[in-house]
Parts: sequence; C-alpha cells; structure tokens
Amino acid sequence: MTDPKRVLVTGGAGFVGATLVRQLADRGHSVRVLDNYTTGDPAHLAGVDAELVEGDIRDGAALGDALDGMQAVIHLAAAGSVIKSIEDPATNFDVNVLGTFRVLDAARRAGVERIVQASTGGALIGDATPPVDEGSLPKPISPYGASKLAGEGYAYAFSQCYGLRTVALRFGNVYGPWSARKQGAMNMFFQAIHRGEPMVIYGDGTSSRDYTHVDDIAAGLRLALERDVPGGTVLHIASGVETTVAELADLCRAAAGAPDHPVEYRPGRTGEVDRNFASYDLARELLGYAPTIKREDGIRSTWQWYTESVFSADPVSAR
Ligand SMILES: NC(=O)c1ccc[n+]([C@@H]2O[C@H](COP(=O)([O-])OP(=O)(O)OC[C@H]3O[C@@H](n4cnc5c(N)ncnc54)[C@H](O)[C@@H]3O)[C@@H](O)[C@H]2O)c1
Repeated sequence: MTDPKRVLVTGGAGFVGATLVRQLADRGHSVRVLDNYTTGDPAHLAGVDAELVEGDIRDGAALGDALDGMQAVIHLAAAGSVIKSIEDPATNFDVNVLGTFRVLDAARRAGVERIVQASTGGALIGDATPPVDEGSLPKPISPYGASKLAGEGYAYAFSQCYGLRTVALRFGNVYGPWSARKQGAMNMFFQAIHRGEPMVIYGDGTSSRDYTHVDDIAAGLRLALERDVPGGTVLHIASGVETTVAELADLCRAAAGAPDHPVEYRPGRTGEVDRNFASYDLARELLGYAPTIKREDGIRSTWQWYTESVFSADPVSAR
C-alpha cells in the first residue's frame, strides 16, 4: 500500500464516485467530495467515511476552499450525456471544458501533486475501427467527446508547463450499482423490464460498446492515484470486450429472468459512435490494471442491485 493521500474527488456523489469514494476510504485515503448534486446525490455516500462539500467546480471560491490541504484530485465532475451535449453544447462546454480548466488551474496554484481525470474512450475517439488504444486518432463526433478531448489537452499542457502529475483515464461504458440516474442502455433496459414496457434499441442493434464494471473503473482511478506514472499520461480503462446493443438486451433479459421480454427498434441517434471497444494493454503495463468482473456476472449483480435498491421503492412495478 502506498502512503494514504488527502484526496479531493470532484463529482464524487455521482455514479462512479459512489464506488470510488468507498474504495479510497477502504484503502485508508482521506477523502473530501466537492459536488453540486446536479446528477449526484449525497445519499449515494451515506455512511461512508468522507467529507461532503456542496459546491460547483466553476466557483473559484468553493474550489479554493475544497482544495485546501489536499495532495491529490480525482476529477469526475462533468456533464456526462452525449445526447444532452448535442441539445445544449454551451452548458456542456461550460461544465466540462471551463470546469476542468478551473480545476487544473486551481490545483496547480494550491500545490496539488497529482490529478487523475475521467475521460472517455468511445465519444472522444469517434468512429474508428476497434479495438481503439492510446495511439488512435481522436475525432470526437459529439460536443461531449470534444469537451473531454479539450480537458485532456489542458491536463497535458499543465503537466508540461507546471510539472503537475496528470493522468487522464478514458473509460469504456461504465455500469454497476448507483447508476439509477444515468441514461445508459443498461439502465433503460432494466427500467423497461421492470415496468413491463418494450426495451428500445436505437439503430439495428449492431452498434457496440465496451461495458466495464464500475468496480474495475474505480480500481483504475485508484491505481492512477497511487502509482508513479509520468505526468500527461493517457490510458484506456476498459473491459476489452465488444458487446452489441442486441447482445446487451439479451444479457439484461437473461439477468432479469425475462428471456422473452419484447424489444422495439427505433432509428439510430446522431452523435453516438457505431462500434467501440478498447485495449487496456498500456494501463496493465503502467498501472497493473486488469478488469476483474466478467460481463455476465456484473450484469446479473447490477440487476440484483436495481431490484433491491431501486425497484423495491418504485410503486410503478408492472411485473
Ligand atoms: N458513466 C460512464 O459510462 C462514463 C463513461 C466515460 C466517462 N465517464 C466520465 O466519468 C465521470 C463520472 O461519470 P458518472 O457516470 O459518475 O456521472 P454522474 O453524472 O453520475 O457524476 C457526475 C457528478 O458530477 C457532479 N457535477 C456535475 N457538474 C458539476 C459541477 N459543475 N460542479 C460540481 N459537481 C458537478 C454531479 O452532481 C455528479 O455527482 C464523468 O467525468 C464522465 O464524463 C463516465
């Protein structure tokens, strides 16, 4: 175990944060969370040994206070939806580009040693033949992907100009507990099964993603915090497994014990990449990262979490 660190987690009350903050606290790190609760919820961290501060990453005073005494930052706070970034690119720019710049700049001035930031694989690289890796040319096809690329650019520049030890992690599509507020396909499929409505697939079902369990994503973030890697490093944290939307629908139906649940196909959506999965070879080499959760097991346990933590409190149930 490396020395415990005092870590600020921006956006730590969100989906990824809920698992990450638990992992960090369990490893003995001292954690403070800065979150404005737009999509996060302090209840996600109930009973967890972490300090919660309500505030916005674009608010210099709130950020300065939150950084006081911190040695490291894990920057998760973001407007995370591809579809919403197309509807409202200005808000996406404001939170993701300006917000990330503010975090990096305030961290540098506060003397923070290490910054790990959440980036994205599929949306940032765009339509490329998978598996993608760190050598793939980024060509984002949505404002969200562009905003993440801009954030990586600033982090690299800050590592070169100010010696900040930055690491950007490009996640696959994350799934797992505490994802009930997300709009991803797995959540939508589970909600549809629960409500007795058809599962909607946009496009012909052949588009694909790299579904990575949140426990593995959180482990990647924690390793990037703890291990010594050069500033400006960019790594894919993924499962390395390609899953089409049609396959995912089948896996969700199997996990829910509803193999014949109806599926409805609708036209594909702009800004969504067609195929995506990533190689994590470099993350394995530099961080010792390797995914530990098998897709079928992870989807089954996620369905169980939805059943126990979300659907049990939802009177809409039609099952
Ligand atoms: N979930 C995925 O599949 C996925 C894939 C690739 C990358 N990512 C990235 O991982 C990170 C975490 O994603 P997530 O899925 O947990 O999303 P999330 O929306 O659940 O979490 C984001 C958190 O940031 C907070 N936040 C948003 N704007 C803020 C602001 N201006 N100031 C302070 N807090 C703010 C939200 O309240 C929320 O708690 C994001 O940077 C996202 O872009 C996620």
